[in-house]
Amino acid sequence: MDKLMIEGGYPLEGTVQISGAKNSAVALIPAAILADSLVTIDNLPEISDVHLLAELLQEIGGDVTLGKHEITVNPENMIAMPLPNGRVKKLRASYYLMGAMLGKFKKAVIGLPGGCNLGPRPIDQHIKGFEALGARVTNEQGAIYLRADELRGARIYLDVVSVGATINIMLAAVKAKGQTIIENAAKEPEIIDVATLLTSMGAKIKGAGTNVIRIDGVESLSGCRHSIIPDRIEAGTYMILAAAMGQKVLIDNIIPYHVESLIAKLREMGVTIEVSDDQLLIHNSREKKGVDIKTLVYPGFPTDLQQPFTSLLTQAEGTSIVTDTIYNARFKHIDELRRMGANVKVEGRSAIINGKTKLQGARVRASDLRAGAALVVAGLLAEGVTEISGLEHIDRGYANLEEKLKGLGAKIWREKMSEEELEQVKS
Ligand code: EPU
Repeated sequence: MDKLMIEGGYPLEGTVQISGAKNSAVALIPAAILADSLVTIDNLPEISDVHLLAELLQEIGGDVTLGKHEITVNPENMIAMPLPNGRVKKLRASYYLMGAMLGKFKKAVIGLPGGCNLGPRPIDQHIKGFEALGARVTNEQGAIYLRADELRGARIYLDVVSVGATINIMLAAVKAKGQTIIENAAKEPEIIDVATLLTSMGAKIKGAGTNVIRIDGVESLSGCRHSIIPDRIEAGTYMILAAAMGQKVLIDNIIPYHVESLIAKLREMGVTIEVSDDQLLIHNSREKKGVDIKTLVYPGFPTDLQQPFTSLLTQAEGTSIVTDTIYNARFKHIDELRRMGANVKVEGRSAIINGKTKLQGARVRASDLRAGAALVVAGLLAEGVTEISGLEHIDRGYANLEEKLKGLGAKIWREKMSEEELEQVKS
């Protein structure tokens, strides 16, 4: 097992290319199950979640070719193979196999998903949607069993605005008989991306990106080619890094509209940002003011950027308050930041940060993907060397992190963990 080493204090300068969106990719790959012929998805990020999903599609009989930035899926010989255990448990997004397999085969058995540990992450709204479409859903020994004689369109009101439930219900409904209406749907750009792929396959979907989505079921879906949107969370992470340590950093291949809430907050802190069609230029700004943020559903401030943003706030003057209304226990990075010298405490669903403080390199552990991003930001800011374990979380979502950061001038590398360190991680 590797650990990530960062020698902090070096300014960042240059251009960073943003990869395709992880949270789109993990839904688009399962969506390919619904087609009757070849689906090609490009602008694919090189992350471990993509490899796991490609292997899962192979397990159910898919003919899958995975290139560096492209995946081709031939779903012709796929079967409704039960997936109660194994890889399916390694990533949270495997829940999209439920909607896609139910939509295609009218049945599925999927082990309850793993993924980032952010506190309770129920899937009751997904199940409510599947049941409304006519599926019988049971939980048997940690796996969800879904069966339907036929799927019929229904009106589904989501009690909680959920990205996953919105996408999963779309996947199950595109081939159902009649019309499905999802009310109080999530509006994230990744939902529009999935609807775009399904529409290219022949689905009839209106309203993706608004809070009411209408789907008219079709008999069959055919193959197509689709290009994934840029990853707004990866882009946001590099924007935060640039604000923290940048001289002049150009963030390339992004949709600035998708990161408006972050642009607004960085500007409020005093960071200078030039926006053009698909790029952002972030200038060095030594003095930064503290700000408060509250995470909200899109287009509000994303919960996925709350953790790296907290590291940046340790460098801002005054007191800042970060409140997470989506996952109120998403604060596992705070203890690690304190280990590095940050003046931060958690009260309820908020972190209170007093800045500005000098950070010191330390041995820290990434407990989840974005906690890892927070520690990378902190490591680049810190004096001395920071060693980050739990790298498997970071690899789930950040494509070529070291290469991209080295390209900007960071001192970052991987090292094998010693036996003693491995023991410590396990205990
Ligand atoms: N929720 C329920 N019931 C449900 C579904 C969700 O109560 O059936 C609650 C959740 O517990 C949470 C809120 O609703 O409090 C929002 O959850 P949502 O379903 O929107 O989250 P998700 O679809 O499981 C996706 C991203 C997450 C991101 C959230 C919020 C993927 C694969 N994951 O998760 O991304 O934090 O939306 O934007 O798309 C990440 O990239 O690091 C990550 C965790």
